[in-house]
Amino acid sequence: MPNAPDLTSEGYSLLITTAAGREVEARREVKAVLPDAVVKGLFLKGNLLASTALPPERAIPALAAAQTDLLARLVPLDTQVRITPSAEAPALIAQAALRLNKPPAGAKFLVECRRRGQHEFTSRDVQVAVGRALEEQGALAEFDTPDWLVAVEIFQQVAYLGIFPRELFVTKQLHRARKYAPGQRPLNRAQLKLSEIIERFGLELRPDMRALDLGAAPGGWTKVLAEHVAEVVAVDPADLDPGVAALSNVRHLALHTQELLERSDLGRFDLITNDMNRDPDESAALLCRLAAWLQPGRQAVMTIKFVTRDRRRHIRDATGILAQQYEQIRVRRMPHNAKEVTAVMRRRA
Ligand SMILES: C[S@@+](CC[C@H](N)C(=O)[O-])C[C@H]1O[C@@H](n2cnc3c(N)ncnc32)[C@H](O)[C@@H]1O
Repeated sequence: MPNAPDLTSEGYSLLITTAAGREVEARREVKAVLPDAVVKGLFLKGNLLASTALPPERAIPALAAAQTDLLARLVPLDTQVRITPSAEAPALIAQAALRLNKPPAGAKFLVECRRRGQHEFTSRDVQVAVGRALEEQGALAEFDTPDWLVAVEIFQQVAYLGIFPRELFVTKQLHRARKYAPGQRPLNRAQLKLSEIIERFGLELRPDMRALDLGAAPGGWTKVLAEHVAEVVAVDPADLDPGVAALSNVRHLALHTQELLERSDLGRFDLITNDMNRDPDESAALLCRLAAWLQPGRQAVMTIKFVTRDRRRHIRDATGILAQQYEQIRVRRMPHNAKEVTAVMRRRA
C-alpha cells in the first residue's frame, strides 16, 4: 500500500468516510460546510482526511447538521503513529494514546480500532493494548455507556488516533444513488431555480434570442439560458464555473453591473435576468437603467432578495421602482426559497 498522508501540524484533522468512488462529491460536500478545509483522499477508496481551522467541537456538529448525501462516519483525530506490520505496533499505539493525556481519570471510555492492511496483530490486540494503558492512567474501560471514544484508524503503516467525547463521533446516512446521469448534475440550486421560473412563468425563450444575465456567477442561470438562446452575456465580477465559461455561446464580462452602464458596444437583448445579491431597491434601479438595452415588450426576470425581515416592504418598493420602466409585473415565491421572491415583467412598449 502507498503512504497514507500525514496529519497537518496546523489546524485540526478529521477522518471522513464515504462511498467508494464518490470521493470527489463527498469532498465537495465537506468544502460546502468547511470552506477552509484541505481535503485529501486516502489511497483506500471511500476515505478522506480533512484538515480545518475549526476545532472538532465546531466542525463535527456543522457537518452533522448539513444536508449531505455522501458523508458517512465523521471521526475527529488527534495524532498519528507510524507503525510496522509487526506485533509491536499495538504497544506503540498505546504509548501515543498515553501521550495525549486524555480522557480524564475516572472517565468511561471505549476503544474502537479499524484496521486496513496486512499486519501481524489484530484490531482486538490494539484495543486491548490501548485500553490497558488508559486504565493504568486512571480512566475506566466501559463497553455499554462510555462517555469517551478512542478511535484507532489504521491504514497499513499509519495509525490515526482520536480521543474525544462520544458525541463528537457521528455517523451520517449515506445516499448513494446518483440523482443525475454523469455530466447532468446541476451546477447549483440556482440552475434548478431558473428552470422552475421558466416553467412557472412561461418565460419566452427562442433560439434566435440574446440574453443578458446579471449577477451570473457561478453560472447556473447562464448555463440554462445558453441551452435555449443564441447568446448569453453573463455579467459578474466573480468567476464563472469553467464548464460554463467555456460554452461557445457564453460571453463573460467580469464587471459590476454599474460598470456595464458605461458600455455602448453590447447591442440590444431579448431577455434580461437579474439574480444579483444586492439590496432589492438598488437592484431594481439598475434593471430600470438597463431597460433601454431590452427590446420593447420583451421580458426581464429579477429575484427580490429579502435583505431584512420586512418582506412586504421589499416587494412593494422594488416593484414600485420597476414599474417606472416595466409593466405586467408578476411576483411569485418559488419553492424552497423563503429568502427571496421572483418578479417577471415586460419592458414597456
Ligand atoms: C445568487 S448569486 C447568482 C447565482 C447565479 N444566478 C447562478 O445561477 O449561478 C449572486 C451573484 O451576484 C453577484 N453580484 C453582486 N453584486 C453585483 C453587481 N453589482 N454586479 C454584478 N454582479 C453582482 C455576486 O458576485 C454573485 O455571484
